[in-house]
Amino acid sequence: MDQIVSDFFLWKIDQNKMKDFIKNNNSASHQLKLIHKTISCKVNTENPVDPEFCLKFIKALLRILETNGAEVEETLYDVLHEVQLKAVQPQLEHSDKSLVDKYFKSYFIEDQVVSLAETKQIISDGTTGLTSWPAGIHLSHYISQNNQHFKQKKILELGSGTGITGIFCLKSKIPSKYILTDCHPKVLSNLEINLEHNLASDTSSYSLATLDWEAETPQTDNFADIDVVLGADIVFDSRIIPDLVKTIKSLINRKLDSLAFIASTIRNEKTYAHFLKELSDQGLSCVDCDYETSDPIKIIKIQLNG
Ligand SMILES: C[S@@+](CC[C@H](N)C(=O)[O-])C[C@H]1O[C@@H](n2cnc3c(N)ncnc32)[C@H](O)[C@@H]1O
Repeated sequence: MDQIVSDFFLWKIDQNKMKDFIKNNNSASHQLKLIHKTISCKVNTENPVDPEFCLKFIKALLRILETNGAEVEETLYDVLHEVQLKAVQPQLEHSDKSLVDKYFKSYFIEDQVVSLAETKQIISDGTTGLTSWPAGIHLSHYISQNNQHFKQKKILELGSGTGITGIFCLKSKIPSKYILTDCHPKVLSNLEINLEHNLASDTSSYSLATLDWEAETPQTDNFADIDVVLGADIVFDSRIIPDLVKTIKSLINRKLDSLAFIASTIRNEKTYAHFLKELSDQGLSCVDCDYETSDPIKIIKIQLNG
């Protein structure tokens, strides 16, 4: 059931897992348990998943129960009715249409729940920063498991997107200060929502800033004393790699022993090789952090040569 539950909070349904779940046990109490862990769970009431997805989920569950000849627990039809109402209601509660709809994906990372307002589309408003990317989740695990590099450090993150890594670090009380940065106005507005939503009472430990790697006038001068620079899924476009590397170098150049950790999903070997070459060309050395996962993720540690 755990996988069905974590998929639910990421707006995903695996029909086969749901079928197995029902085949193993289709009792009324088992059906109710799934509803209590998903649709009726506190995480969903406080951080609602997209209502259209919720409707798909309950419909899929009912269809599988019915086609398997199971006796459907009556409460499930009440839940269907409630969810149907929410899904057809225009989103009147969310009056500010300039922001993404405030529906959340919830990520269970180590011992934290990080709930983030995200769009359904991977690219929306010309940016990839309104959904969370796998490298951001992996980087969070890495940080948690290798605490010594990050504990009580002043951290700056490049291309923070929805804020997944930063919010995880802040909820886990790892850094002394965390600066989340991005270049896209809508991403920055959404980041602000996500920070407030997850860290309402703890505003002193983080700040939010515009930092565009490609800006004509370098913006890194605004940031001093950074111990650690982070980035997740920011190596994706060969054209901007020289500017990205220049930004990393400029940030770690300002303090002795300052480091950068960059997590990347290797989608295109050539683009990643270009990134590594550019690091070397600009006088930076890097080592593989040997982060182990079945996903094509690499995390490297970068420092100044010499
Ligand atoms: C693929 S997303 C990754 C977001 C987040 N780090 C994650 O792991 O979910 C790439 C991010 O880089 C940001 N970005 C792209 N080009 C940028 C630039 N020139 N300067 C600063 N940020 C940029 C995007 O706005 C987006 O938030």
